[in-house]
Amino acid sequence: MTLWEGRLGATTADEVLAFTESLTFDRRLAGDDIAGSRAHVRGLGRGGILTEDEVAILLAAIDRVEEELGGDFAFQPSDEDIHTAIERRVTEIAGDVGAKLHTGRSRNDQVATDLRLFARRELLAIVSRVIELQEVLVTRAAEAGDAYLPGYTHLQRAQPVLLAHHLLAHGWALGRDLDRIVHSVDRLNVSPLGAGALAGSSLPLDPDFVAENLGFAARFENSMDAVSDRDFVAEALFDLAMIGVHLSRIGEEIALWSSEEFGFVVLDDAFATGSSMLPQKKNPDVAELARGKAGRLIGHLTGMLATLKGLPLSYNRDLQEDKEPLFDSVDQIDRALRATAGMLATASFDLDRMRAAADGSAAAAVDLAEWLVQKGMPFRQAHGVVGGLVRDSIERGVPLLELVQAHPALGADAAGLLEPGMAVTRRTTPGGAGPAAVAVQLDRFRHRLEIDRERLDHALKAMTEPPPTG
Ligand code: ARG
Repeated sequence: MTLWEGRLGATTADEVLAFTESLTFDRRLAGDDIAGSRAHVRGLGRGGILTEDEVAILLAAIDRVEEELGGDFAFQPSDEDIHTAIERRVTEIAGDVGAKLHTGRSRNDQVATDLRLFARRELLAIVSRVIELQEVLVTRAAEAGDAYLPGYTHLQRAQPVLLAHHLLAHGWALGRDLDRIVHSVDRLNVSPLGAGALAGSSLPLDPDFVAENLGFAARFENSMDAVSDRDFVAEALFDLAMIGVHLSRIGEEIALWSSEEFGFVVLDDAFATGSSMLPQKKNPDVAELARGKAGRLIGHLTGMLATLKGLPLSYNRDLQEDKEPLFDSVDQIDRALRATAGMLATASFDLDRMRAAADGSAAAAVDLAEWLVQKGMPFRQAHGVVGGLVRDSIERGVPLLELVQAHPALGADAAGLLEPGMAVTRRTTPGGAGPAAVAVQLDRFRHRLEIDRERLDHALKAMTEPPPTG
């Protein structure tokens, strides 16, 4: 039996059902569909479309279906999607009253409501995972103290930086991801329920009431927009892809750092894998997959945008393609964040290797130039002087230190800048890579994290506020 048997004579072909069904994946929206159905029934009661008794019968049937869904709900071959399945079962349980469930509602506003409920909850769950990873980063940063390593540009050693500074750089990027999600959730927190198929209803529905009942901040303003808008999916996919890109960059660094060539980090055995053939191998698979998954996440975003592009108003079945990418991106990012957090929490940094790599004499080249600037030399000229010394040192095989000591404008004082560990201490400007600036940064990062935890709590509370009675 189909929902449209009144209109279409022939039974739907099997190939059509196989091609168009979404139950295999949208059963994941069951809980949200139940919540939406409850709110809809309450709304129908409030508008006097259902009697109090009918509301009670329907709510009881919905409760039972919810229970069955948690256990042995028997899906039928004709259940095209989760909405059809739930309505069918409510009707089986509640008989004629069940047949009133879909009054004033379309699957178009229903599915949009379900998916917004899903996105809101799952995105906020991702926010807590992001915070967990940030906590690992800030803990490792604090532990790292004054340890330093080369900072790179173009993957060439550039200037020494505190390890804490490097780790927190990733932490701030994740903070922007978090902020983006919180704003996306704010934007998507709008109820489409009551938009009907596309134009609203002749029945006295109360979209404001159902919106509030579901903990949405507002109801839709335009019914056509309500059923056809999937901006929130595209935006969520972007937010998740951006996290994926950030994790990918962390992954790439860990893959490099754990190589024998760098040797900056040794991964815990529980967060590394072996080789099926080469007994000596220890591979950074978590880091590599964190990098690799980004491609798939970006694919989901571009795929969704391509689906949306050119769709005429309002609902089109194309929109059914919104769910799988969203589900997958949420799942992949959830796993990636957890695995990355574990990998970083348990990794051992080889601080000696890092220090040795950072103490190459040329690491302080800019300090020499800046020392000359403080003596009054224009920077461009100072850059030339030091660059010339570095070239000389390489070409003639003379240590830079000797050349600096012998240079009339530099000498023994300036040579002090080449002392191991000296250069990094001189990065004193706000947000800079040296110990004094990083100590401030750590405080600011912790403060930011505190605020973000509160924002998350606030958003979670607003979402789960008990529905008003009625
Ligand atoms: N499974 C459909 C989807 O995910 C539900 C909405 C179907 N609406 C319709 N008019 N056929 O989009």
